[in-house]
Amino acid sequence: MRSRPSIMTASRRAIATVFERLDYGALGTIYCDEGGDEFWKAKREHCRRLGAKLGLALLSRLKEGGTSLYVGAGVAEIPLVLLERLEKHRGVTACNLRREEVAILNRACDGLPVRFHHRDAGLVRGSYDHLWFVSVANDPERFPELSALSYGRANPVTFNARNFISEQRAVARLVNRCLGRLTIPGLVTTTVEEVVWIADWCHRRGVPYRIEDRTYPSPTVGDPICFVRVGSEMADVSAGRPKQGPTRPQ
Ligand SMILES: C[S@@+](CC[C@H](N)C(=O)[O-])C[C@H]1O[C@@H](n2cnc3c(N)ncnc32)[C@H](O)[C@@H]1O
Repeated sequence: MRSRPSIMTASRRAIATVFERLDYGALGTIYCDEGGDEFWKAKREHCRRLGAKLGLALLSRLKEGGTSLYVGAGVAEIPLVLLERLEKHRGVTACNLRREEVAILNRACDGLPVRFHHRDAGLVRGSYDHLWFVSVANDPERFPELSALSYGRANPVTFNARNFISEQRAVARLVNRCLGRLTIPGLVTTTVEEVVWIADWCHRRGVPYRIEDRTYPSPTVGDPICFVRVGSEMADVSAGRPKQGPTRPQ
């Protein structure tokens, strides 16, 4: 009988240590307009546990010694970034545009082989075999109109079409830059709401892709996360023959 994959004790400890060290008071004001303390009371364990579970699923799809680019790496991504480094010895570039959050994350990761960067992920050089793009294009703070539309909350009375178009261009540019550096075949981890950006990029370039059916809830906001095989031999979608992909759980 095959044993279930599990996390090494040292990795489990490293994840627990970082979650103990995080400054949840400061994170509360970054993540929430109000109720930050309650938010982290409810989410802290959730992020650690779900992140580790998702990390195991991710590790099984990644090769030893490869490289990953994380766009919008925050608290939820801590277990994943650590697992990639500690269990698969992979290079990880974890980017986030919130300067204060990056400082908090790096303080908590002191002494561990992980750094978060206050940097536009679209400007990172080099190539990688895995791109993490989770809850970025539907970030209500940075892309309010795109976010409203993606989540089905757009109000026809107040929707700002002009802003929407500039947000749409900004995300297309970011996706273009990030996917342009993905080695093919490669893996993309994203959400069901954002997978259209990946699919669109593949269609435009005639790159086959396959969206895996299984989804995992994102630890912070519960967006369903899925894996996309880009340019894989096993890809069952060719350009011009779109597949629906996973649907958002109701
Ligand atoms: C809604 S948050 C999601 C954070 C995390 N992935 C999660 O699920 O909790 C979006 C994050 O994407 C980051 N972001 C947006 N555009 C970015 C870019 N071009 N490069 C790096 N990070 C970016 C923002 O700074 C923010 O931290």
